[in-house]
Amino acid sequence: MINIDTSTLFAPIVIKGHPVKNRLSVAPMTRITATEDGRATETMSRYYERFARGGFGAVTTEGIYTDQAFSQGYISQPGMTDEAQASAWKPVVNGIKAHGALAIAQLMHAGAISQGNRFRDTTVGPSPIQPKGEQMTFYDGKDRYVLPSTMTEEQIADAITGFAGSAARAIEVAGFDAIEIHGANGYLLDQFLTDYANTRMDRWGGATENRVRLILETFKAVRAEVGANVPVGVRISQGKVNDYHHKWAGAESDAEIVFGSLADAGADFIHVTEFEACKPAFAEGGPSLMRLAKRYAPKAAIFANGSLHNVEQAVAALNDGADVVTIARGALANPDLPKRWSSNIALEEFDPTILGPIANIKETELAM
Ligand SMILES: Cc1cc2nc3c(=O)[nH]c(=O)nc-3n(C[C@H](O)[C@H](O)[C@H](O)COP(=O)(O)O)c2cc1C
Repeated sequence: MINIDTSTLFAPIVIKGHPVKNRLSVAPMTRITATEDGRATETMSRYYERFARGGFGAVTTEGIYTDQAFSQGYISQPGMTDEAQASAWKPVVNGIKAHGALAIAQLMHAGAISQGNRFRDTTVGPSPIQPKGEQMTFYDGKDRYVLPSTMTEEQIADAITGFAGSAARAIEVAGFDAIEIHGANGYLLDQFLTDYANTRMDRWGGATENRVRLILETFKAVRAEVGANVPVGVRISQGKVNDYHHKWAGAESDAEIVFGSLADAGADFIHVTEFEACKPAFAEGGPSLMRLAKRYAPKAAIFANGSLHNVEQAVAALNDGADVVTIARGALANPDLPKRWSSNIALEEFDPTILGPIANIKETELAM
């Protein structure tokens, strides 16, 4: 039973002129349930609609690929690369909006950790470095990642253009309210940010200011495409799907560069994710990553993610710099999590078997 004051979780917030009814958002989750050619499906519409019906103030989609070259990461991942893919999102967006939730499209380029791409047999990244870890079996992967080739200037420009064009289609064709650029978790933009994955000697590599450049250039291109009134945010993390425990070598000074430059660029929101959002980002006893994001980007709305399905932790996050709490596994187990918290109903435990043998959406979930 909930014995604490949860009113802060249910206070509305306005993000770039868009009212959001509470501080609870579904975190992005890849569920590989699109058609083979990357169109969102009816199953996906039913899946996403449940979260909005369940009271979430915002729903962020899974990572959507952005071009017909190197961006796709997974077989059956949805894309936003042409009219057909963008139109297929319309019913999903309508279902989310029908319940008054903000619909946020997460745009993602998999880069060196792509493990399924119908457009290319090879991968690209900042540098020809073997990615750590192994492909994810629940996304049909096996064995090690392929060795990427170094992105040329032209390929970098194409990747940026892919994000910008997809953002425009997401807003204008699909009807999304907002864009989240996936700059986290080991995908292309985070590969550029990561010291050991990016050994470039040009303006895209070296100092943190250079390694963050691709995130900023992507942000600016998206902003230029969607205009000043559309909320545009960036997701940032230290840990990666293929390297959970990575920490920024520059610690707080890296945080200042990353969040400060996003603030300067005009990010409307920054979505920080850590395994446990409330823990210190670096040294024991130090500030959390969400606190640092708020410190260096005070005007951006800070979305915080990571083990916040416990209501005490969710409230604590709002007291530690977060403006919105995002929930992934807890939302899979409880698509109606906000309604449960507001009515004092206990949550169901997350059952990882939902994601097996592969992570596609299961019929049993749609009944929830
Ligand atoms: C099945 C699954 C798929 C995920 N896919 C994505 C994704 O597409 N994009 C992303 O940024 N994070 C993705 N994540 C990470 C979640 O957004 C979140 O950071 C992580 O689950 C921790 O939050 P939680 O403690 O609320 O589960 C995924 C997580 C899960 C469980």
